[in-house]
Amino acid sequence: MNITVIPAAKDINESKIKDKIVLVIDVLRATSTIATALDNGAKKIIPVLNVQEAIDYKKSNPNYKIGGERNGIKQPGFDFGNSPLEYKEKIVKNETIVITTTNGTRAINHCKSAKKIILLSFLNLNSVNKIVQFEEDIVIICAGTNDLFSIDDGVCAGALIYNLRKNNNCKLGDMGLACLTLYENTRDNLHNLISKCHHYKVLENIGCQFDLEYCLKENTLNIVPIYKDGYFIKNEI
Ligand code: MLT
Repeated sequence: MNITVIPAAKDINESKIKDKIVLVIDVLRATSTIATALDNGAKKIIPVLNVQEAIDYKKSNPNYKIGGERNGIKQPGFDFGNSPLEYKEKIVKNETIVITTTNGTRAINHCKSAKKIILLSFLNLNSVNKIVQFEEDIVIICAGTNDLFSIDDGVCAGALIYNLRKNNNCKLGDMGLACLTLYENTRDNLHNLISKCHHYKVLENIGCQFDLEYCLKENTLNIVPIYKDGYFIKNEI
């Protein structure tokens, strides 16, 4: 299995992802939030690039809910921000939710020519591992933060690679090897490492401590968000 790791959303280009199995990671917080919403019964999650697009969706489909953030903050007129803890079962069950975030949904939208888009976070590591271990090649996209690599995404990529290597012959490029090494050297205290990263501190400063704790737990969800016909649905494992 060839595994390519792309360090940030801006590094995605057509030649790397076209017709490939692509896994997008935005641990803090987009891919954790989308997985949580689907696990709590949301019917569909439509990822869009910008705030206006989300608002326009709601104008044409008043039953839809809209969520997401800019600078970590819920936008005016939105039903939700980007905290996974807001997407509770009693609010999201059977709902279609349009979501836009600064880096996560941007990365997703740049992968539309992929054969399959799967969302990965610490919450669903094992479930994603089960689905992709039979694939020939995968491309892991770290969404990053504002065009830069983010350790939380990289270490999550490393965790998946670590698990995949148990049953597969994985061929890694340098970025994959770096993520794996980072994970191997810090796996006993991931929170300590991630708490030093830029985006963690940004979220801490805006009062998202509970989100940080939630998003860094491993294997709490048995689902894999898979993109089909313009939206994510859940694939239960
Ligand atoms: C993003 O997509 O940039 C993030 O999910 C931002 C956030 O933490 O809300």
